[in-house]
Amino acid sequence: MHILVTGGTGFIGSALVPELLKHGFSVTVLTRSEQPLRAGVSFVQSLDAVRSPVDVVVNLAGASLAGRRWSDSYKAEMVASRAGFTETLVRWMRAQSTPPGVLISGSAVGFYGCSRDQFFDETSPAGSGFSAQLCQAWESAASVVEDDMTRVISLRLGVVFDRNGGALTEMMRSFKLGIGTWMGDGNQWLSWVHRTDVVRAILHLCADAGAKGAYNLVAPRPVTHREFCRVLSARRPTLLSLGLPAPIMRVALGEMADELLLKGQRVTPHRLLDAGFDFRFSSLDSALIDILARSKR
Ligand SMILES: NC(=O)c1ccc[n+]([C@@H]2O[C@H](COP(=O)([O-])OP(=O)(O)OC[C@H]3O[C@@H](n4cnc5c(N)ncnc54)[C@H](OP(=O)(O)O)[C@@H]3O)[C@@H](O)[C@H]2O)c1
Repeated sequence: MHILVTGGTGFIGSALVPELLKHGFSVTVLTRSEQPLRAGVSFVQSLDAVRSPVDVVVNLAGASLAGRRWSDSYKAEMVASRAGFTETLVRWMRAQSTPPGVLISGSAVGFYGCSRDQFFDETSPAGSGFSAQLCQAWESAASVVEDDMTRVISLRLGVVFDRNGGALTEMMRSFKLGIGTWMGDGNQWLSWVHRTDVVRAILHLCADAGAKGAYNLVAPRPVTHREFCRVLSARRPTLLSLGLPAPIMRVALGEMADELLLKGQRVTPHRLLDAGFDFRFSSLDSALIDILARSKR
């Protein structure tokens, strides 16, 4: 099986690609930069260079949401590198003499907007705000290629945790100095997922011929930011715990502070659980035990 991964050099892609190779798949990674040679992986810088046929496309490319302050021009880049690029990808897929049978395309739990009290599953409507609009545009661009030949899956990802990158590395900085922190009042929800389960779920959805549409890719047990601080402090003892004041975060980070950090969403992976997917890391504690143990090696 030949799998094309866009954004395959990123935090999720760098864990996914080795696992695809282990399963015996041949992998092409679409990247904007030169990459060192790697057995089994073909790196290409344009879709025209992709060897046909491709069986599955995993679409993860996009300018980081946490990468910079959300100026109008950076917002345009976040949209263009996801929805805009996906439109190009879908046109390329349609132009193939044997179109790929599956498109697994990124999205995020930001699709639902933010709420302190609602419980979101895949039947919940889209919310409001920049992240929600971005996810809707991204999912719509991917869905265009859905037909009898190609099934399309949108992965509504929660905050992906692992060592060496991603949100957890940032969230652990103060803990390394002995200070446990949460953001704002800490009562907002954090729908997280271990990167290992992200990779396993992608393989699961790829193999399940009946899987299509949106899937929430979050662990079954979301936590509040205060709970996150409590669970991590039990594994990485701290001298004190405190909340980072919301007004300061808003001044420092702008709109991103509310959308990504101060407000949250409580999301359940209803469809994955229904499909019999078995999360290896359902509780935050089990995920942190694994990640912290591997960080020491
Ligand atoms: N990690 C999370 O917690 C999380 C949560 C929700 C949703 N997601 C979504 O899932 C996708 C994968 O996540 P990730 O954490 O692996 O992301 P990542 O580490 O930021 O990697 C994304 C990849 O996209 C490419 N890219 C970056 N900026 C780009 C631009 N301006 N134009 C085109 N391509 C660009 C880069 O590949 P090259 O430099 O090789 O081109 C990069 O390796 C992302 O789209 C992200 O929004 C992630």
